[in-house]
Amino acid sequence: MHKVIFDTDPGVDDAMALVFQTCHPEIELIGVTSVFGNATIETTTRNAVYLVERFAAPEVMVAQGAAGPLRGAAPPPIPHIHGHNGLGDIELAALPTQNRAARLDARPAHRFIIDTIRQHPNEINLIAVGPLTNLALALQEAPDIQHLVKQVIIMGGAFGINGVLGNVTPCAEANISADPDAADQVLTAAWKVTAAGLDVTQKAVMSTAYLDNLRQHGGEVGQFVWDVSRLYEQFHRDSADVHGIYVHDSSAVAYLVAPQLYEVRQGAVRVALDGLARGQTIQKPAAMGVPAPSWDGFKMQDVCVDVDVAGFLQLYFDTLTANAKAA
Ligand code: BDR
Ligand code: CA
Repeated sequence: MHKVIFDTDPGVDDAMALVFQTCHPEIELIGVTSVFGNATIETTTRNAVYLVERFAAPEVMVAQGAAGPLRGAAPPPIPHIHGHNGLGDIELAALPTQNRAARLDARPAHRFIIDTIRQHPNEINLIAVGPLTNLALALQEAPDIQHLVKQVIIMGGAFGINGVLGNVTPCAEANISADPDAADQVLTAAWKVTAAGLDVTQKAVMSTAYLDNLRQHGGEVGQFVWDVSRLYEQFHRDSADVHGIYVHDSSAVAYLVAPQLYEVRQGAVRVALDGLARGQTIQKPAAMGVPAPSWDGFKMQDVCVDVDVAGFLQLYFDTLTANAKAA
């Protein structure tokens, strides 16, 4: 079993990544930590609680995280992508107050991350699919966790593979752009990070037909994925003429359970902190011989440079539909 802490800013594709985990038989979701990003921290935390209450085991708790980046202000919410409620404007049944309270851990997210990693040395997979502020705060307070975590997998960055650009600026992807300082700290720490950036996540498109098939065969979860993705799909059609959706955050989960679907490139990664390129993720490939002092000496991280798209789509489909059959 893969033990997971899921750090997230739900978010439509975050929600899809969360149900992917709750349906996967080899994933044990230990806890969920919220962060600002796709919406305010109040909204992303409310959504995380809603999602665990509806789909996760009763013992899975949510710890509320950062309301903004290490430096500067949080980016404004993006209702045209994720809806005003962060979950595609689907109807969210109000949770009874006692249920909500029972799902909320008293600790801030970074403290929950530290305590949980220390409780399970070398066992925790930290999957982070929002701005990396909670992870940076955890590292600052407890540098020992770098050596105690099993691995860190992030959805974040755009590494220019085959000319892939950012999605906030020509060079910056949203999760990194929202807190470049945190991202640079996370990517240069001694723990093992794998980054699934736009280079691979924009290849993994779920078409309308695929989502409809999921709706028909995926039971309640399949219907939920369909409902939650309607507005998100419209955004893809309007903005990029994509007839379907980019499934960004689920790529980080897929990497955990099926790393063979990804081709990775090793090398130190730095993030541009200021100026025109703020939020750009730049890897110095291990094979590159020239000295580059800003990269040299930092941990070699793995950047996903290619993905078996059919394999990824099959994995997601099989995971949700097998769960529906078992229910
Ligand atoms: C990332 O930004 C967010 O909007 C998505 O949830 C995803 O994590 C894609 O750039
Ligand atoms: Ca996200």
